[in-house]
Amino acid sequence: MPNLDDYLTGNRDRFERELCDFLRIASISADPEYRQQITRAARWVADQLQKFDFPTEIIETEGHPLVYAESPHVPAAPTALVYGHYDVQPVVPLELWTSPPFEPTVRDGCVYARGATDDKGQMLTHIKSVEAWMAVEGRLPINLKFLFEGEEECGGENLAKFVKENRRRLACDCVVISDSSQFAPGRPAITCGLRGIVYAELLLTGPNRDLHSGSFGGAVTNPANALAKILAALVDERGRVQLPGFYDDVVPLSQEQRERIAALPFDEADYMAGLGVSDLTGEEGFSTLERLWARPTYDVCGMWSGYQGQGAKTVLPATAGAKLSFRLVPNQDPAKIVEALRGRLTEICPPGIKMELTVHHGGRGVLVSEDSPYTQAAARAIEEAFGTAPVYTREGGSIPIAVVFSDVLKVDVLLLGWGQSDDNAHSPNEKFSLADFHRGIKASARLWEELAACPTRDS
Ligand code: BES
Ligand code: MN
Ligand code: MN
Repeated sequence: MPNLDDYLTGNRDRFERELCDFLRIASISADPEYRQQITRAARWVADQLQKFDFPTEIIETEGHPLVYAESPHVPAAPTALVYGHYDVQPVVPLELWTSPPFEPTVRDGCVYARGATDDKGQMLTHIKSVEAWMAVEGRLPINLKFLFEGEEECGGENLAKFVKENRRRLACDCVVISDSSQFAPGRPAITCGLRGIVYAELLLTGPNRDLHSGSFGGAVTNPANALAKILAALVDERGRVQLPGFYDDVVPLSQEQRERIAALPFDEADYMAGLGVSDLTGEEGFSTLERLWARPTYDVCGMWSGYQGQGAKTVLPATAGAKLSFRLVPNQDPAKIVEALRGRLTEICPPGIKMELTVHHGGRGVLVSEDSPYTQAAARAIEEAFGTAPVYTREGGSIPIAVVFSDVLKVDVLLLGWGQSDDNAHSPNEKFSLADFHRGIKASARLWEELAACPTRDS
């Protein structure tokens, strides 16, 4: 596709400038103070699509707006639904950023900014590839529907509701999502599985006020001690999560799947060095990649109680709290896990402590077929753009809407991640390689042509 390639090459700098414009919008979805920036980001995305004269809508929801557009109809060609999210994670701790999170800065071939890889940089690749097709060919070879949301990072439910209520409108042959990672630099991947999640918050309350730990300690149940005991009781020394029935619905990896994971070039020493840790632990009997991709987990994401200031303060705190995430594998039901958690916590909560459990969000994991014609089409597009064939991986993260697409629209979800696992998504100094950005655009441009040659689902 010489003309398309010329267009992509000739417009590299502008694409990068536009990516930076997008990254300057502080569209943090978790914090209501940033609501205006959410609106600005939705408009920015809609403006991009409107430039192609595609009918584009900003759809208001009870939460943050969706952006929806459709390309001109191409008869008999398949339809792909492109999904991405324009919202980003909060930026604390700010002092750990080398350059400010909403002032995109290029260093060593990477753009540093919140949202660079998750997901603004990745979602923009599909918009820019469409721009190239429209500018060079004046048309697309397939039908595209674009659906972008602004509450992925805060576990919003409004998109799932929209998908369920708009099955006909969103009907398609496959969904395309670039919101995950390559296996390693120079090793593009197709992500064939994502974990699900249950995210909950536990609050323990003891005495009606903070107490002197000498005058009251030993007689009054301390919520911080109780919290430590409860949190520790949820996993055993073999790394098995201690909730009744937690593993009942877990589909074990087949011998073949285990062999394929083991055959991937994963260097445990490099992995540890990159993280600055001296050892790894997890569920007994599983390799690191198996633990990350195909086994469920329990992690404390935050906890607080008592005195946090300088020096010592002898206090028996009145309250203690923690945020917990359970990563689930496909076939585990978040609602069942929440029930098991609630039951277990009620059992082990010590007397004299009041317990409150709030569930923030949940979503099931997803598995994608490795050999559907759409996956194969994506593999060819990636090979052409990256110069090497993709490996088939899974990832430990969650995109809760992916399973909704696959269940409600009954289609394959192509997870074509252009990021890298050390892109610092959700961390300070989030980045995205500009080379990966441009390769992603090129792969996306090829993808439309490869998908166009696939049979439609009803043919
Ligand atoms: N892009 C990520 C999901 C992801 C992370 C996929 C790593 C593959 C590898 C997404 O934006 C995300 O952060 N999801 C949340 C979901 C949660 C807020 C419901 C997650 O995984 O924590
Ligand atoms: Mn994301
Ligand atoms: Mn994310």
